[in-house]
Amino acid sequence: MTSDATVPQSRDILVTSALPYANGPIHLGHMLEYIQTDIWVRFQKMRGANCHYVCADDAHGTAIMLKAEQLGRTPEEQIAQVKVEHERDFAGFLIGFDNYYSTHSPENRHFSELIYARNRDKGYIVAREITQLFDPEKQMFLADRFVKGTCPKCGADDQYGDNCEVCGATYPAQELKNPRSTISGATPVLKANTQLFFDLPRFQAMLEKWIRSGTLQEGIANKLEEWLSAGLQQWDISREAPYFGFEIPDHPGKYFYVWLDAPIGYMASFKNLCERRGDLDFDHYWRKDSTAELYHFIGKDIISFHGLFWPALLTGADFRTPTAICSHGFVTVNGQKMSKSRGTFIKAETYLRHLTPEYLRYYFAAKLGSRIDDIDLNLEDFVQRVNADLVNKVINLASRCAGFIQKKSNGRLSAAPLRDDVAYSLLQDFMEAGTEIGEHYEQREFSKAIRNIMALADRANQYIDEQKPWALAKDPQQDTQVVQICSVGLNLFRLLMIYLKPVLPQLSVEVEAFLAIPALRWQDHRHLLQDHSILPFKPLMQRVEMRQIDAMIEETKTEVAAEAALAQAPTANAQAASTNAQGAATQEAAKPTAIEAIAPTIQIDDFAKVDMRVARILHAEAVEGADKLLKLTLDLGTETRTVFAGIKSAYAAETLVGRLTVMVANLAPRKMKFGVSEGMVMAAGPGGKEIFLLSPDSGAQPGMRIK
Ligand code: 2FM
Ligand code: ZN
Repeated sequence: MTSDATVPQSRDILVTSALPYANGPIHLGHMLEYIQTDIWVRFQKMRGANCHYVCADDAHGTAIMLKAEQLGRTPEEQIAQVKVEHERDFAGFLIGFDNYYSTHSPENRHFSELIYARNRDKGYIVAREITQLFDPEKQMFLADRFVKGTCPKCGADDQYGDNCEVCGATYPAQELKNPRSTISGATPVLKANTQLFFDLPRFQAMLEKWIRSGTLQEGIANKLEEWLSAGLQQWDISREAPYFGFEIPDHPGKYFYVWLDAPIGYMASFKNLCERRGDLDFDHYWRKDSTAELYHFIGKDIISFHGLFWPALLTGADFRTPTAICSHGFVTVNGQKMSKSRGTFIKAETYLRHLTPEYLRYYFAAKLGSRIDDIDLNLEDFVQRVNADLVNKVINLASRCAGFIQKKSNGRLSAAPLRDDVAYSLLQDFMEAGTEIGEHYEQREFSKAIRNIMALADRANQYIDEQKPWALAKDPQQDTQVVQICSVGLNLFRLLMIYLKPVLPQLSVEVEAFLAIPALRWQDHRHLLQDHSILPFKPLMQRVEMRQIDAMIEETKTEVAAEAALAQAPTANAQAASTNAQGAATQEAAKPTAIEAIAPTIQIDDFAKVDMRVARILHAEAVEGADKLLKLTLDLGTETRTVFAGIKSAYAAETLVGRLTVMVANLAPRKMKFGVSEGMVMAAGPGGKEIFLLSPDSGAQPGMRIK
C-alpha cells in the first residue's frame, strides 16, 4: 500500500560512540549517547543498511594511570577490570555494539604509528622547544596531572595542572598558583623541553571546506567556524614519561597524548572487527575516496577533537574524513546537573538493579532531537510517560485484543478488512506513516518519530474504544466481527512495534514471539499479518512505580557516602600503592576510593572457606621473651586450642579470662618460636592500645559457626 522511495538501496555505514575512559563507571549521563547511537544503528540495520557500530574503552593517559595506582593495580589490570564492567553495563542497556575494543591494543598502536608517520613525513609534525614544569627533586618533567596548586581563575586549592574541578577553567600548568609536584611535593621549576606538535594551522583551508560540506549540525558548524576564524594553534601531541600509552617510535621516552590515539581507536576497533569477521573490507570504509559513510556520535564537550584535530589528522595521513559528527547535549536530572549529593549521579549498574533498560531508552528517545540541547530526565515525568505511552497505549492495545482472538478464533487472525471498512483506511494510514517516521529516525529526530508513533497509538485505541469488541463478544452471532476488529487492533499494534523496534529491541523480541513472526524489518510496515496464528498473550511490560525511582536514588546516595568514607580512610595499601611500577604516585593519589583498595573482591565460595567460630578464653598469659604476644587457651565447645595473639599492648592477660571472642578455627597451625599457634583470634584497630577484640552478643555459645 505504500513505498519507501526515499530509502537508498545499499548503504555501507560505520558508526561510533565516544570511547569512555577506563577509569570509572558508566552513568546515565554517558548512557544518553550510547542509547542515541544504538537507536540510530538499529534503525539502519532494520532498514537493510550494512551498518557497523564499534566502540572501545579509552584506556590511556595520566588519569587512568593515577586511578590504577589509587586502587593498587597496574594500569593493565585497571583497564581490563573496567572493560568488563563497561561491557556488562552496555549489554544491560541493550547497546548492540558489533565490536567493543580497547585503545590499548596492537591495532591501535599500528594505526597511531601510521598516522603519526604519514603526517610527520609530510612535514605536519614539528618539534618545538617549550618551557615546562620540572620536578627538581625527581629530575623529571611533570605532566599536567602531576602538578597541583591553586586555580588561577577562582582560587580553589588543590587543583590539577590542566583544569579546575571547582570552576571548570582550563589553563596551562604554568599558570597554577603555588604549584607543587604531586610526586615529590617539591615546588616545580620551569625548564626548556622539546615537544612534538601537530601543525593544525596548515589545515585551515581544508577544515573550512569540510565544515561547509553540509553534513554537520548547524550548532557544530558555527562553533567550528568560530574557532577557525579565531585562528588555529599547533597541537601538542607528545607527553613525557611516566605515561600510560604508546611510546613515540622515533622519540623514546615520549608518548602519544591520549587524545591523539583515542579517535584512532575507532579505526582500531573496526580493524579488529574486520579481522574477526573476515568478510569486511577495512579500506572500503577508511580510504580517502571512500563511498562508505562514517558517523561519530559524541557529546558537545569534545567537538574540537572531532571537528578539527581528527579530520585534519586523517587528511594528513591520506584517510577519509567523517561524513558527519553527530553531537548531543548533556543529561540533567530534574532540571539540574547530575549531583552526587542529591543522589542523581546514577550509575548504569544501579539503574539496572531497579528498572528496565527500555524505560530509559524510550524516555531519552522521546526527548532526543538532532540539536545539541541538554536533555532533562525528570523523574516524575519519566514514570508518567513510560506508563502512559508504553504500558497504557501500546501494550494495552495488544492485551485488549489478544484474548478475543484466542477465545473466538483459536488464535487465528482474520483475513484482510474490506476496502470500504473504516479499518482499511486506518491500517493504510499506519502503513504509510512508516515513511515519515523513518525519515525522522534518519535525521536523528527521535522525539518527532515518537510523537508520530504515539499519535498513531491514540488512534488505534480510539478505534477499539469505538468498536467495543467486548460488547459485541456477548453475542455469538458477532464473533466474526469481533475477530475482525481485534485482528485489526493487533495489526495496528504490530505496526507500532515495527516503528518502536529501534528503541525497544527486547520488547520487540517478545512481541515477535507472541505474534509468531520472524524478526521485524523496517520494510514489513508495507504489509499486514492476515490469516495467521498467534500465541496466547503474556504481560509484556510492567508499570514503573515511583517507589522504584526512590529506591534507586537512595541506593545512589548510599554508594556516594560509602565512596566518600573510603576516600577518607587511610589504609595499609596506600603506602604500597604509592610506590608501584610507574614510580609516580603520591600519598594523596594513593588514597583509596573503593573497597577494592583495601582487599580484592572475593566470591562467596572464598568466604565459605573461612571457618570462624565463637570461642571462650579459658586461660591467658603473657609470653616470656615476646613483647606483643599473649598465649590464649580457647574453648571451642568440643575441643580446646592454643593461640598466640599479638594483643598484649591492649589487654592485660587476666582481664580476658572468661570472655567470648571469635576465632578462625581452620587456619593451618603455625609453628612459632614459643609453640604452635592453632588458629587466630579476630580483632580490629590500628594497633598499640587501640586493638579491639571481637565479641559475639550474649547468648552465643563456644563452637558456634559464624556465617
Ligand atoms: O571525553 C571522553 O570521555 C573521551 N574518553 C572520549 C574519547 S572519544 C574518541 F575520540 F576516542
Ligand atoms: Zn577554579
